[in-house]
Amino acid sequence: MTGLRLAVVGVGRIGVFHAQHLQELAAEREDCELVAVVDRHQDTAMRVAERLSAQQETPITSFDSTEALVASGIADAAIIASRTIDHRRDTQVMVEAGMRVLLEKPLGDTLDEARQLAVWLEEDETRSRAVMLAFQRRYDAAMLRAHELLREGIIGELFKIVSILEDPEPPPVGYQSAGLLSDMGVHNADEILWMAKRYPTQIAGFGARLHNQQIPDVTVEDFDDAFVQMWFEQDLTAQLQVSRNHVAGYRNECLLFGRRGRIHVGHFDEDPLRVRLEAVGLDHEVLEQQTYDLRDYERPVPVFIRRFGPAYKAEAADFVEGCIKKEPFAVTHHEGLKAMEIVAAGAEAIKRGGAIQLGSAST
Ligand SMILES: NC(=O)c1ccc[n+]([C@@H]2O[C@H](COP(=O)([O-])OP(=O)(O)OC[C@H]3O[C@@H](n4cnc5c(N)ncnc54)[C@H](O)[C@@H]3O)[C@@H](O)[C@H]2O)c1
Repeated sequence: MTGLRLAVVGVGRIGVFHAQHLQELAAEREDCELVAVVDRHQDTAMRVAERLSAQQETPITSFDSTEALVASGIADAAIIASRTIDHRRDTQVMVEAGMRVLLEKPLGDTLDEARQLAVWLEEDETRSRAVMLAFQRRYDAAMLRAHELLREGIIGELFKIVSILEDPEPPPVGYQSAGLLSDMGVHNADEILWMAKRYPTQIAGFGARLHNQQIPDVTVEDFDDAFVQMWFEQDLTAQLQVSRNHVAGYRNECLLFGRRGRIHVGHFDEDPLRVRLEAVGLDHEVLEQQTYDLRDYERPVPVFIRRFGPAYKAEAADFVEGCIKKEPFAVTHHEGLKAMEIVAAGAEAIKRGGAIQLGSAST
C-alpha cells in the first residue's frame, strides 16, 4: 500500500484509541496506513505495536522516542497523545523533520511554553501549517448542530454561554496534569470561543479542593472544582464550570442563551451512550429535539471515549484528509493558544480571589 504513513506518539489512555481510529480509517479509505507507535515507555510501545499489528496486514513498528521515529523516516504524519509536558518537544522534533501533526490538547504545559511553541511555529511558512490542535468538540455531531443553529439565528442574539465539563473520578495514578483548568477547562474555553466567535475582555474565577483532592495518592492538582466567568464587552458572558467530583458520571453540557430562545446539548441522564440536543424558543416552544447515538466500543473505555468516540474519529479523519490534500487545518495552534490564554487568565483570577468574607449569621 502507498499513501499517507501515520504514527501515534504516546499510546496511553487516549493514544490507543487514536491508533484504533487510524487503523479503521486506513481500512475504510485505503489511502493511508498506521505504520508506527511511539512511547517513552518502551515496553508499552512494543506491547501496543504487537497488539495493533494483529489488526492489519502490515506490521507496526515501535519506537521509544520521536527522535527515533524521525530518524527512521517511516512516517509522514502523526497524532501526538504523549504527556502534556512532552507536547512541545514531540511537536518540534516531528515538525522540524517536515511532518504534520495532530496535537492533543493542551498546546503546552504552561502558557509560556505554549507561547514559545506558537512563536517557533510562526517562524516559518511550512511550520505554521504543520499543527492541527485536537479539540474534538468541534467534530461532535451534537455540538456541530448547536453551532449551526446558533449561526442560523434560531435563538436570536447570543448573550450567555454555559459550558460544563465534570469528570466522575480523578485521573489515573501517574497522570501528568498541568492543573484543572489547563487539563480539562481548556476544552470549555475553546468551546466558548468557538461559539462566541469573540475574545473575552474580563475574567473572574473561583476554585476549590472539595472531594477528589482529599483522596490519598490522587494526582495532585491546583483544584478539583472551578468556576470561571468571562465577559465579552457588556453584551455577552460565558460561564465555565469544571470539576473532577461529579461522582454520578461524566457530565458534559453546553447551554446557549439567546434573546429568542435557548439551545442545550448534553443533559446528564441515565444513558451515557446518547447525547440530546434541544432548541427551545419563546414560551417553551420546542424548535428542535435530537438524540445522537454514540459508539459502543464493546469493552470498558474511558468516559471521554464513551462520550466523544465518534468525534475523535471524525477529527482524525479530517487530519488525514488535510494531510493527503496538503490543505491548511481548520483548528490550529492559534486556537490552542487562545484557549490556553483563557484558562491561564482564569487560574490567575482564582489565585487573586474575589470573594467577600461574611461574618457569622446572626440568630
Ligand atoms: N482530547 C481529549 O478529550 C483528551 C482526553 C484524554 C487525554 N488527552 C490528552 O492526551 C494526552 C495523553 O493523555 P492520556 O490520558 O492518554 O495520558 P496517559 O498518562 O494515559 O498516557 C500518556 C503517555 O505518557 C507516557 N508516560 C507515562 N509516564 C511517563 C514517564 N514518566 N515518562 C515518559 N512517558 C511517560 C505513557 O506511556 C503514555 O504514552 C494529554 O496531553 C491529555 O491532555 C486529551
